[in-house]
Amino acid sequence: MINESDLNSVWIEKYRPKTLDEIIGHKEIINNLKHLIKSNNLPHLVLYGPKNIGKTSTAFAIARELYRDSWESNLTYFNASDFFKAGKKYIAENKQFMPFIKTDDPKKIQKSVIDIFKAVIKEYAGIAPLNADYRIIFIDSAESLPYGKQGQDAQQALRRIMEKYNRTCRFIFSTTQLSKLIPPIRSRCLNLFFSPLLDQKKYIKYIADKENINITEEGIDAIQYYAKGDIAKAINTLQIATTLESKISEETIFEIVSMESPEEKKIKELINATFNNKFIDARKLIDTLLQNYGLSGSEILKLFHDAILKKYPDQLAKYIKYIADADYNLTKGSKERIQLEHLLLRCMLD
Ligand SMILES: Nc1ncnc2c1ncn2[C@@H]1O[C@H](COP(=O)(O)OP(=O)(O)O)[C@@H](O)[C@H]1O
Ligand SMILES: [Mg+2]
Repeated sequence: MINESDLNSVWIEKYRPKTLDEIIGHKEIINNLKHLIKSNNLPHLVLYGPKNIGKTSTAFAIARELYRDSWESNLTYFNASDFFKAGKKYIAENKQFMPFIKTDDPKKIQKSVIDIFKAVIKEYAGIAPLNADYRIIFIDSAESLPYGKQGQDAQQALRRIMEKYNRTCRFIFSTTQLSKLIPPIRSRCLNLFFSPLLDQKKYIKYIADKENINITEEGIDAIQYYAKGDIAKAINTLQIATTLESKISEETIFEIVSMESPEEKKIKELINATFNNKFIDARKLIDTLLQNYGLSGSEILKLFHDAILKKYPDQLAKYIKYIADADYNLTKGSKERIQLEHLLLRCMLD
């Protein structure tokens, strides 16, 4: 189990905002939310925008502000990406789903993932609020909620549940891609756009002060430049920098950003496997990237593109069509794994 001190050693968790007032930026949104909470008039919400800018933290802060001490009883957290991407394996591993499947062996689960989803959400929506008018179901990574295909449509089911339990239950969705939510859901919610936080210098300085770090003005500029609005990336870069140097300069930051991330290493392996025609290995790597690293199909495509550009710059033109085709098919909502495998096969056959 993770304990408080482990969490506090990772600064992005240590500095995760707990209240709406602690959220940096997004002033207009935060003010609106405070009004809605005060007037006890919170609608369903969609929080959308790029990753790591405070959407999840805001949803939790809303629950704390609304319910004070009983916030944990009145908030249900549900991660659509874990649930639908890892499917039965994830469901079997999580005790909270036990009552719905009655086994911890993924192979023995009889019901389909979508049927389990419907049963779980209905159950959550039906729980009576504790000392409150309504409870909150917070669906994170909502872009992973399947839609469109008959018999597999989580979103149509949700829409009906939202209507039925409207009096006692509010839904908050958080997503990096608004377009992945069906219009009937979007139109039932107040849609709030979280924009990248481009000016983070004050906040980086604040954390540096708290942690007694010696960092130059250029070092702070460099962090802000490389983070491109992603606060967690800025905080992580600062924390890594402290392990390299006691006085952090622009060069320290440059050294960190030129290091390869674990995802980039895996993508390199993927490219090697692909160009050596090792399909089985390549396929395993795709699974690792989707499931263990939690990347989306389009994130993998972007890294794949960048890695080819680095390794075989003169070949990029040849492969870019395949990458673009896969990207197009993904935006149409086809299965990520299949599109990625198709791309690898086309590269191999070439
Ligand atoms: N607006 C913000 N104010 C303060 N810290 C933030 C903000 N946005 C992100 N962070 C930092 O990044 C981490 C991840 O934020 P999170 O709320 O999970 O982002 P999102 O849901 O948009 O991906 C937080 O733990 C916090 O350290
Ligand atoms: Mg989030």
